[in-house]
Amino acid sequence: MKLIHFETISSTNQYLKDNYSNLDNLTCVWANHQTNGRGRFGRNWVDNDDLLFSILIKNENNNLSNPTDYSLLIAATIYKVFKKMNLESFVKWPNDIIINSKKAVGILLEAVTTNEIQCVIIGIGINVNSKYFPIELIDKATSLKNELAFDVNKEKLLSNILNEFEVDYNSYLKNENDYLKIIRNNFYLKNKEVVFSYEKKEYQGIVLDIDEKGLLVVKTSEKILYLNSGEVTLQKSYSNKKA
Ligand code: BTN
Repeated sequence: MKLIHFETISSTNQYLKDNYSNLDNLTCVWANHQTNGRGRFGRNWVDNDDLLFSILIKNENNNLSNPTDYSLLIAATIYKVFKKMNLESFVKWPNDIIINSKKAVGILLEAVTTNEIQCVIIGIGINVNSKYFPIELIDKATSLKNELAFDVNKEKLLSNILNEFEVDYNSYLKNENDYLKIIRNNFYLKNKEVVFSYEKKEYQGIVLDIDEKGLLVVKTSEKILYLNSGEVTLQKSYSNKKA
């Protein structure tokens, strides 16, 4: 995998968006700081000793027929790397990784489309060595350092993730879906009540599962819905009292 490093950049996702046509498939760009880091829903991603990186997936050999699969693929990769570090994590479909009920990783998937899809950019922010969080995030966010009680080497972590991701990417291209088994077995939303918008309507339901295509299976009072991460916005999730 080709690696590009910046001490400071506006956003690693934006860099790949601007330069994808001159870069190889599976180029990774990482930075120590971002001045305009992006989160989902137009939010900012404010960094504080985080691991910030983006991976470019170019449209080659039909590898982008289901672009949203890539959030779950990288989430499964990171889950495995954390496990080797003795960190127990859960995947909050489709974009977050949770440790001790708090968010440790955020994933932002962006696509560039002209006439057809050109590339997908997987942007990942891992709270690595941050010790303190702003007051509004104290109950919601954690870092690897807070969970392990020691500093983590960001470069080594990145190299472990990229090595593992390359293997997982090649398996994915061969239609092997081990990543879905990992997500289903370590699935944060299972049996939780969720509020989400879908086709401009708001729904409430209980999460039953993730199916073999990576769709979220939710039971509402009226029906069972199969939700694609590109079509649905999860607004809230909370433990089902019965679970
Ligand atoms: C989220 O949870 O809202 C997703 C956050 C994604 C942040 C990462 S940091 C590296 C990459 N570059 C960006 O501008 N954003 C992503």
